[in-house]
Amino acid sequence: MALKLYLPLPWSIMHTESAHDESEHAVFDQDFWDRRYAEQHRIWSGNPNPQLVAETRELPPGHALDVGCGEGADALWLAGRDWRVTAVDISPVALARAREQAEVAEVAQAIEWLAEDLLSWVPEPRGYDLVSVQFMQLPQAARTPLFQRLAASVAPGGMLLIVGHHPSDMHTTAHRPPIAELFYTPEEVAGLLDESWTITVCEARPRPTTDPGGNPVTIHDSVLVALRSG
Ligand SMILES: C[S@@+](CC[C@H](N)C(=O)[O-])C[C@H]1O[C@@H](n2cnc3c(N)ncnc32)[C@H](O)[C@@H]1O
Repeated sequence: MALKLYLPLPWSIMHTESAHDESEHAVFDQDFWDRRYAEQHRIWSGNPNPQLVAETRELPPGHALDVGCGEGADALWLAGRDWRVTAVDISPVALARAREQAEVAEVAQAIEWLAEDLLSWVPEPRGYDLVSVQFMQLPQAARTPLFQRLAASVAPGGMLLIVGHHPSDMHTTAHRPPIAELFYTPEEVAGLLDESWTITVCEARPRPTTDPGGNPVTIHDSVLVALRSG
């Protein structure tokens, strides 16, 4: 499925300082992401996402699903802590980079890299002890069914961790695409879960960063942590 969105302004990908000059009508498909990744040697920091580290560092290792794994920093971090990881992304360019880093870090055997479109790929139901979603910024019509499929893929006793850019970021100087429908609150995600879940975190968590002008700015991550009853 190709996602078509109107982009009235250039959109630099989150976490990077570089400018991009996207066409007016962007299609968020494999080609879009491959071109994004091919523009630079590396576009993410190489560090694991802070909310992943904060929420999972005390968990016993198991089988994790890293959703939209990008260049693989989260998958590498988990593998380094004895997790077995299935890492999925639509971009073979990003996955090739991630695979290379896993070889360097000597954790390659613990990670399965899958080039799949998450809008159609169905993860194994009840298949994962941890499902981690970090910054999948999709329109609601796409993210709701995706998050529902991902919730269904959490094993009994497992954890669903969904982290995204909070809508309040649009009112800061942080670099964000000017497309309101890509942003979501943790309450919206919590509303997708039934009574078989215990929600342990549902908050807009502040995080200091710098804006494109180099000025300090506080952004907020929507953080949802839910445990599936055994
Ligand atoms: C904002 S990046 C986040 C990357 C990584 N999770 C991180 O936090 O560094 C979003 C990632 O999702 C991937 N992605 C976007 N749409 C996708 C889709 N439909 N199926 C699979 N991956 C997708 C992109 O290729 C990209 O690597």
